[in-house]
Amino acid sequence: MSIFASIDGVISPGHEARISVLDNGFTFGDGVYETLRTYDRRPLLLGPHLTRLRVSAGRLGIEIPQNEGELRERLRALLERAGHKDSFIRIIVTRGVGDISYNFGRVKGPTIVMVVKPFETYPESHYSEGIALVVVAVRRNHPLALDPAIKSCNLLNNILAVRETQARGAHEAILLNDHGDVAECASSNVFAVRGGSVVTPPLSAGILAGITRATVIEIGGEIGVDVREQTMTVSELLSADEVFITSSLKEVTPVRTIDRQTIGAGRPGPVTQKLLAAFRAALPRLCD
Ligand code: PDD
Repeated sequence: MSIFASIDGVISPGHEARISVLDNGFTFGDGVYETLRTYDRRPLLLGPHLTRLRVSAGRLGIEIPQNEGELRERLRALLERAGHKDSFIRIIVTRGVGDISYNFGRVKGPTIVMVVKPFETYPESHYSEGIALVVVAVRRNHPLALDPAIKSCNLLNNILAVRETQARGAHEAILLNDHGDVAECASSNVFAVRGGSVVTPPLSAGILAGITRATVIEIGGEIGVDVREQTMTVSELLSADEVFITSSLKEVTPVRTIDRQTIGAGRPGPVTQKLLAAFRAALPRLCD
């Protein structure tokens, strides 16, 4: 697979790209990231991703010296070098190279890495039939411990959830928060449809402020599908007419089962399909 990386603006093939073993991203998971994709070589919602990257970094006291234009230019050069039609993009900012200590004053950074690889599309059946979710035992990080709003490189909470999901033969995990309410999925946000109206857990449930989530709420408003933020229990999710998840990679993906229980009619519902179609129709104006 042709993977290319830009490390502090220097582009190389992925298998040659190296960062220091003393990088705090490696030694402490001390960094933040964004994942996005392109459509016909144009990154989707790059502005909001770069803004969230800077906000996440700021929460860790990491300042990104480059302005948005400079980051955009680095990504443009990388995408051009890679030459993929559709790319998966990962942007990683770590505190920088330190000495494996909490002496942050000694850290030289930040390290700014961008990696692109060909975008692997999800099977069409995910959209035509829906996917399987499971409610996992591991809880989402408590916002007062490691706030899920920070898109942290420290993904162990998500990895524990995904490992359990894969062991149970499902596609994606639903994580509950400390109160036992629905928070979000391991790498996506979750929505339920009941009687034609759509609900999704509020940011106060302790979740990532998903960019696709915000886009779906906005597009819903434009096409007359009201999306409300509301605390959600597992039983409300299981008894919903439709459930779908959103992410920068998965768009709007219908859910067929949760814990092997069929949701609604067991196929993508009309509201999910309407939102997916509207999201796809909006792509040309949402790409840079
Ligand atoms: N995941 N919640 C979590 C925990 C996530 O990791 C993601 C994104 C989302 C959806 O956010 P957005 O719509 O901004 O992509 C929600 C990306 C795809 C990832 O980790 O690679």
